[in-house]
Amino acid sequence: MYFSKSKGFPKNFLWGSASAAYQVEGAWNEDGKGVTNWDKFVRIPGKTFKATTGDVAVDHYHRYKEDVKLMAEMGLKAYRFSIAWARIYPNGKGAVNEAGIQFYNDLIDECIKYEIEPMVTIYHWDLPQALVDEYDGWENRQVVDDYVNYATTLFERFGDRVKYWITMNEQNVFTSLGWLTAMHPPGKTQDMKMFFQVNHHANMAHAKTVLKFHEMGHHGMIGASYAFGPSYALDCRPENAMAKADYDDLQVYWWMDVYAYGRYPKAAMAFLKSIDCAPVMEEGDEAILKEAAAHFDFMGVNYYQTAVIEYNPIDGVGLSTQMNNTGKKGTAKESGIPGLFKNVKNPYLPTTDWDWTIDPMGLRMCCRTITSRYDLPIVISENGLGAFDKLEDGKIHDDYRIAYLKAHIEELKKACDDGCEVLAYCTWSFTDLLSWLNGYQKRYGFIYVDREEEEGASMDRYKKDSYYWYKNVIETNGEEL
Ligand code: BG6
Repeated sequence: MYFSKSKGFPKNFLWGSASAAYQVEGAWNEDGKGVTNWDKFVRIPGKTFKATTGDVAVDHYHRYKEDVKLMAEMGLKAYRFSIAWARIYPNGKGAVNEAGIQFYNDLIDECIKYEIEPMVTIYHWDLPQALVDEYDGWENRQVVDDYVNYATTLFERFGDRVKYWITMNEQNVFTSLGWLTAMHPPGKTQDMKMFFQVNHHANMAHAKTVLKFHEMGHHGMIGASYAFGPSYALDCRPENAMAKADYDDLQVYWWMDVYAYGRYPKAAMAFLKSIDCAPVMEEGDEAILKEAAAHFDFMGVNYYQTAVIEYNPIDGVGLSTQMNNTGKKGTAKESGIPGLFKNVKNPYLPTTDWDWTIDPMGLRMCCRTITSRYDLPIVISENGLGAFDKLEDGKIHDDYRIAYLKAHIEELKKACDDGCEVLAYCTWSFTDLLSWLNGYQKRYGFIYVDREEEEGASMDRYKKDSYYWYKNVIETNGEEL
């Protein structure tokens, strides 16, 4: 659509920034925190860039006051962070660790002190290892009750101050990388059947938590953050258009339809049944998913890139178990599902050094799709550029990051003009942080943290040029970009 005049961003728009516990906190074994699946996984040789871990990360656990103060100086309206399940329940269940509760109470209070809206992600990939040891974590349905119990504790302890809740961060990513490509814990390759079963468990945990939240009478909002990469068919050949439809049903709507409609896409389910990979569901599950969908308050979107889809013959390329985690452009591999589709390069768009396509218009596309398909409010819970940054004389001139964010926010503004109800925009990330498999050199923050892959640097914080730029964006409610 074309609008000659923009309405701009709504009043009270939440200009935010995001992080995740494992990527920023550090203090991996302090104050009673239990060991997690990630604490174990990063110690397996060859799994992460230069064997980096989140043991110390960017020391947010000890420096949260300094970090929140920097947010306040910037005028940030919302801080999205995740809670480490193993700080609250070191064994995943059982006795609550009061020191863990205290840390998040302090962090939430610190945000509120500066009128920064805390936005809490309940699960951002760090699962208590005790649950893996006892029953294989997400592979066992027992995890549903333990997850709901953990989430309920969070609602009880923090629900008086936290209004925005996100059940799952990128369920599509942690399950794909965990059970299909072995890049995340538990490091399994091509376990298609278990992949869909694990997803069903996560969906049930999500759904029961949404219902619990509303039963408890909370007045806030609860959603889930989905890693949405809208797709384009390579061209107008009908087999490519059909490959795109297959991709969308199996890799996009498979998650969003469950959150928003409480059902799995029909064609995807028919296909999975035909290859004996459909999830086993218990009696009553369908009704619970439906009921939860009726109480699902917003779609969270983590947007980084779009995908181009081409038909993949039955003897075609399989899922790639390697990604570019060095920052050497052009090292990412093609990946696909034989007989269905594969992801190919977009010849019209540039990429980052880690081979992620840069497509600002894709963000508007996300909002449009969600609005026309689900008519739900939208929280952009992540969007940002991972890049090499250089600290020179205490300054970081990251004009490339400013250009990236500016182009995306311009498209988001158009989505608002299109009538999409966008509540928030959280950049990834506020400070630099651990980029899971890519070490610390792939930086996303407004705040540069003095640390490299090796431990022992000062951890001092420096404001990048993008910090001042975003401050002005917030002050002008997105009028000056
Ligand atoms: C999202 C995650 O997938 O993308 C974040 O929610 C992650 O946790 C971000 O850091 C960027 O990915 P990466 O691999 O570059 O760190």
